[in-house]
Order: sequence, then C-alpha cells, then structure tokens
Amino acid sequence: MSTVGEMIRKRRKILNFTQQELAGRLNISSQAVSKWENDVALPDLGLMPRLAQVLETTVDGLLGYQGAPLSKYDERYQREEFYWGLNPNQLCYDLMKLKPPARPYRVLEIGCGEGKDAVFLARCGYRVRAFDESQAGIDKAMLLAEKNGVHVDFFRANALDYHIEETYDIIYSSGFFDYIPDNMKEEFTAMLKKSTVAGGLNVLNAFVDKPFMKKKEGQQRTPWKSGELFTCYYDWLIHRCDEVIFDCNSGGVPHQHCMDVLIAQKQ
Ligand SMILES: C[S@@+](CC[C@H](N)C(=O)[O-])C[C@H]1O[C@@H](n2cnc3c(N)ncnc32)[C@H](O)[C@@H]1O
Repeated sequence: MSTVGEMIRKRRKILNFTQQELAGRLNISSQAVSKWENDVALPDLGLMPRLAQVLETTVDGLLGYQGAPLSKYDERYQREEFYWGLNPNQLCYDLMKLKPPARPYRVLEIGCGEGKDAVFLARCGYRVRAFDESQAGIDKAMLLAEKNGVHVDFFRANALDYHIEETYDIIYSSGFFDYIPDNMKEEFTAMLKKSTVAGGLNVLNAFVDKPFMKKKEGQQRTPWKSGELFTCYYDWLIHRCDEVIFDCNSGGVPHQHCMDVLIAQKQ
C-alpha cells in the first residue's frame, strides 16, 4: 500500500502542480509539502479535507483506504494499455451531427471509464465534465486529456448516489446503464431529463436482456428490458432508437450482446 506521502505526490503529479503551487493553495510552505512527500511528516488532521479537495480526491484516498476491494474496472484500468481502446464511440459522431460544437455546449458523461469519449468531445470544442467510480479510470483519463492538450473536468463519483446540480446541453453515457439497479432506472433517467436544458440531448445506450444470453454467475449488471429505455423518453423528440445485436469476444469467448441505443431531444 502507498504511504500518505506517496499518495500526495502521485495526485500532485497527475494534476500537474509543483510543490510550491500545492503549498500556495493550502497557504503553507513548500518545505511542508516536501516533508509530507518524503514521509518525514504527516499533514495536520485539520488540513486533510482541504488537501483532499485541492488534490481532487478523498481523505480516504489520501490515507490509502480503498473501502471496497478494487472493482474489475479498477484492475483493468490500472494496466498501461487502454482497455476500451482510444477510438471514440460512434455515438459521439452521432451527437455531433445533431449538435455540432458551434458553441461550447456543456456535456456531462456518466461512467466515462478511461476518458476516450470525453477527451474526444473536448477536442471537438465541447465543454466536458465526466465521471466514473473507478479512480484508476479517472487518473488515466486526466493524463489522456493532458496529453491531448484539452481540459476535461474529470472526477470520481458513484452515479447511483450522485445528484446532478447543474443543467447540461448534452448528457452522454455509454456502457454504464446496466449498472443501474432495476428499482432506480426510472428515477435515474428522470434526473437526467431534468438536468438537460430545453433543446438538449440525452445520448445513451443500455444492454438489453435476451433469452439467448447467458447470465454470468455473481453478475452485478441489471440489463434493461427491450424498449424500456425508449419508453422513459416518450415525451421527448426521438432521433434514434435502435436495438442492435452484436458479436463480442471479450474474455476470449465468442458471445453476443443486445443493446438499445437512444438519442433523444428535450422539447
Ligand atoms: C463498459 S464500461 C464503459 C466505459 C466508457 N464509457 C467507454 O465506453 O469507454 C462501464 C463503466 O461504468 C463505470 N461504472 C459502473 N458503475 C458505476 C457507478 N455506479 N458510478 C459511476 N461509474 C460506474 C465503470 O467503472 C466503467 O468504467
């Protein structure tokens, strides 16, 4: 497990702060930061919440406490290569056709993984906020944004207890929707609809349950019923509602998935 000093150094590097800049934000001397990072001293307890905020993490994270064990995504995202590759999802191009970035439209991405779609949209001129529950994914996404010379407001959050405060021109999510438990699906889509400005888009996909698909043991995913996602948007203008079945070879075992794809616009 990393020491507190190592965690501080790691977060500071990811955010591209010098020791002096970090010290400035905390109103302390850069020598104090240097002592922490070399494990010569620990930050005062009272300073920890502010330090965690400035380093865009949690006090638990700084103390190396991970709570639940690493998720399968954390493990995947900790590898050097990009698990989902670097090519943006086709849905990004679809949304651009409907709302080209003539203005810096505000986009929220939910379950952004390693950030490939968020970074692509930011490169195209959208103003993007994106989150995922995997810290490893967010760390990698931040580095990807930096490498591409764009700013994306990446942060770690659990979508199931995250309340969207602001409104957005576009809410986008790919591959996350079947992590929403059945009893939250309606409430969750209602929140997205409420958090979208008039004329704005929701661009979403969701895995759908089919009899020919075998459930994996202990699977946490709760696929949607065929067409269920579309019905949540009965009162919006539907630009796309497709149900697609496609082959997949993840895990080295050929199998199929079924996915509902929705692009809807608030009237
Ligand atoms: C299939 S991956 C898709 C990642 C990304 N959207 C992409 O297409 O590259 C699903 C993502 O949802 C995230 N996720 C699952 N449950 C979540 C939750 N409750 N809150 C936030 N993110 C979650 C996972 O960590 C994972 O990165």
